[in-house]
Amino acid sequence: MHRIRMLILVDLETGRRHRVVGGGELLEVEGLGLISSERLVEGSVIRLAGRRFLVRRPLPEDVPKVLRRVAQFNSPTVNQYMMMRAGVRSGSFVVEAGAGSGGLTVMVLWAIGKGGRLVSYEKRKEFAEVLKRNVKSLGLGDNWILKVEDFGKASESGADALLVDLPQPWEYVDVIARVLRPGGRVCAHCMSAIQAWKTHTSLSDGPFAEVGTYEVLERPWVVDERRMRPEFEMLGHHGFVVCATRVGP
Ligand SMILES: C[S@@+](CC[C@H](N)C(=O)[O-])C[C@H]1O[C@@H](n2cnc3c(N)ncnc32)[C@H](O)[C@@H]1O
Repeated sequence: MHRIRMLILVDLETGRRHRVVGGGELLEVEGLGLISSERLVEGSVIRLAGRRFLVRRPLPEDVPKVLRRVAQFNSPTVNQYMMMRAGVRSGSFVVEAGAGSGGLTVMVLWAIGKGGRLVSYEKRKEFAEVLKRNVKSLGLGDNWILKVEDFGKASESGADALLVDLPQPWEYVDVIARVLRPGGRVCAHCMSAIQAWKTHTSLSDGPFAEVGTYEVLERPWVVDERRMRPEFEMLGHHGFVVCATRVGP
């Protein structure tokens, strides 16, 4: 039997996720009430209030459902794609511009591990308060610095990866070039094709190579005894991501 501190309960009928908070013998399952920590064994199915719940640790796909939202969460699919394209891995030094509620922040902290380092910029103080609580609630943050200021003032250099989620990434090309090490990668999330075009062309005019724009799509399927086909109602489009490699020196 393996017990870990940070767990969620998944309602096996509705799919709804509930976060387990607090420490000690008696823990709170948000929206459901108190439960003895003895009962929360990862991978087990337990009965609570007449319903069945799977106990497991949170995954990236749970993040928008279990964290408090102040700014809009990106889809975890887009966040994971940005991290892949930016080469975020165990031990990376990552800078994040526009952290919001922390959806991407926690995914980066999971990926870089204890040997990595993350500096996040969030300019709105009231968002930063919730962001700090969200990161802490997942037991993360020892190797994380939050700067509550405009990304335009970023003083870091030598970053392996820079993840940008700002409304106007093209206005920060000089800052991006300053923060990244030669060979480091930037990925910017863009909501519209116009934003993606401006970001792409601005990076192409700067000290960057391998500039590329990608649309992130996801197509869930319905699978049961009789059917196996794409869902009729699907989001499909998850956003645009513009990436580039910093050329040195
Ligand atoms: C869409 S949210 C980020 C969502 C986040 N990436 C996620 O996955 O949940 C964008 C955030 O950028 C912040 N922001 C906008 N301009 C900024 C700037 N110049 N410097 C720092 N933060 C900024 C906003 O306050 C907002 O919280």
